[in-house]
Amino acid sequence: MNVLGIESSCDETGVSIVVDGQTMVSNVVASSLELHRYYGGVVPEIAARSHIHSIIPVIEEAFKQAKMGWKDIDVIAVTYGAGLGGCLLVGVMTARTLAITKSKPIYAVNHVSGHVSANFITKTDLSGYKLPQKQPDFPLLALIVSGGHSQLVYYKSHFDYQLLGQTKDDAIGEAFDKVAKIVGLPYPGGPSIAEAALQGNPNKYNFTKARMGKYDFSFSGLKTAVLRLSQELIGEDHRFPSYMVSDRLNSSQKADIAASFQRVAIETVVDKALLAYREFGPKTFVIAGGVASNLELRKQIETRFPIEVSYTDPKLCTDNGAMIASLGYFQAKSNFEIANPYTLDIKPGLSM
Ligand code: KG4
Ligand code: ZN
Repeated sequence: MNVLGIESSCDETGVSIVVDGQTMVSNVVASSLELHRYYGGVVPEIAARSHIHSIIPVIEEAFKQAKMGWKDIDVIAVTYGAGLGGCLLVGVMTARTLAITKSKPIYAVNHVSGHVSANFITKTDLSGYKLPQKQPDFPLLALIVSGGHSQLVYYKSHFDYQLLGQTKDDAIGEAFDKVAKIVGLPYPGGPSIAEAALQGNPNKYNFTKARMGKYDFSFSGLKTAVLRLSQELIGEDHRFPSYMVSDRLNSSQKADIAASFQRVAIETVVDKALLAYREFGPKTFVIAGGVASNLELRKQIETRFPIEVSYTDPKLCTDNGAMIASLGYFQAKSNFEIANPYTLDIKPGLSM
């Protein structure tokens, strides 16, 4: 089954064709990231407008890369939530139009579950991808860590899962982005913090980990702790404006803050993932979402987990159409309801 996956929930316009949920024959992503850098975060209206410009060229490029045409497509899968309303609308309206004009069934896909499905893509002839050798076995434990989500989910099968816990405030990726802003590192903060951390001492500052429900997370206190420490380092108190702090931190202070924050933020999610692993005893453990490309996360998992964990390519950790196509396939195979192309609506606040 050849599935065309369309993703537009945030700042990436992603389109991909995946065969049987497993073999990626094309994957094209256009990002409006550069347009948001100046503002230090995604501006929803700018992102939505960029999707309008990009979506048709990205679809055309995905067909070209796959050397396929519409006659080869069996199913369209599209992200309908969670995400930014204006952004989701572009993908959903495009998919609806194509489903009607090309007479294809359409499946509405949950973006967050889609991230987990990225781990089921194990084959491609496209160059530049390092994929897992085999699909993960169920039951599986998933740690979903992105700019919008931090969740631990126990999957008995693709669609029989239990949400064990989630963040009560900021997502971990959001915390990386906000901390980067405080210390004056460019957006997106995840890769910037990871790079700055390479020059810093991860044990220089011992930020306190939030005490939450067993599998829940909180990152807003950690972000505030970074701000307070930064104000202290430049000899100011808590009233000093956060946007003026970074100019007065030197590069070694920034690197130490980045490394210490990263260590503690990552330890927080690994601690709970390990706790859940021990309690539920899944066959496999996967990580998903933009923060899953973080090398400190992979390092801590490698040193602390009792099983070998496979990771997907960083390009499939951040938002892409392939993960949506993959989950769309599993929905089609599980006889999910086909969405009505005349009425399918977006669900910005969709949860697992
Ligand atoms: O999954 P994603 O592309 O979008 C959402 O669904 O949110 O994740 C984006 C998030 C951003 O917060 C970004 O800073 C973070 O993933 N990120 C990273 C890394 N690469 C991206 N965080 C830590 N380390 C990285 N290497
Ligand atoms: Zn995402």
